[in-house]
Amino acid sequence: MNTAPIGFFDSGLGGLCIRDAVKKLLPHEDTVYIADSANCPYGNKPAGEIVDLARGHVRTLLGKGCKMVVVACNTATAAAIDTLRAEWPDLPFVGMEPAVKPAALRSKSGVVGVLATQGTFHGRLYRETCARCARKTTVLMCVADEFVQLVERGELDGPRAETVVRAKIEPLLAAGADHLVLGCTHFPHLAPLMTRLVAGRAELVDPSAAVARQAKRLLVARDALNPAGGQMHAFIRTGLKVES
Ligand code: DGL
Repeated sequence: MNTAPIGFFDSGLGGLCIRDAVKKLLPHEDTVYIADSANCPYGNKPAGEIVDLARGHVRTLLGKGCKMVVVACNTATAAAIDTLRAEWPDLPFVGMEPAVKPAALRSKSGVVGVLATQGTFHGRLYRETCARCARKTTVLMCVADEFVQLVERGELDGPRAETVVRAKIEPLLAAGADHLVLGCTHFPHLAPLMTRLVAGRAELVDPSAAVARQAKRLLVARDALNPAGGQMHAFIRTGLKVES
């Protein structure tokens, strides 16, 4: 059990930032990552469809012997994590939560911007997080589905990426946001470009490290840390051949 890998899935390459944060914090863990590029994007799919896809990924990861599943996708967490936890009660799951709380706590202007997909904004988790953690903060929502395509194409910079990113963040900054929450796991891949365009006017809030810490907490609580692995990192991309 301890030497079993940690499983991850996302609609594509976005969740690799979560996998990498876990690798950094837990260098002795092996990992299996599913990039569901054949079905990307998830952002505007009906929740029921995402639940079905998520179930399939969990089965694949269990087939690879995974001891834990990290849902490295905000949209899939919003749509499916309750169902997954109910259907696999003995399997530890780690999900994504938009980092509204740290942004609201640190904000001096009292305005924060959240960049995420439509699916994430429609989820119960997002509404509850805002209601719980940001009562005195103005939270501006920005659906930034276009960023997902940029990341899937590997277009992390350049004039076209700049135009797309600027069009989303400038209105948030103009409305006084001093923190921008990266509420989709694809978005940290655009952080260098965003940091340049934001030019000191706001802080980016990336939850990747916090998610890795939560994965560690769950493994420690189950006494399930791998003492000596970390050499095996498998990558499965749907729609393409299996790579490793
Ligand atoms: N990476 C995903 C997320 O965190 C989903 C992006 C998409 O497929 O729309 O929400």
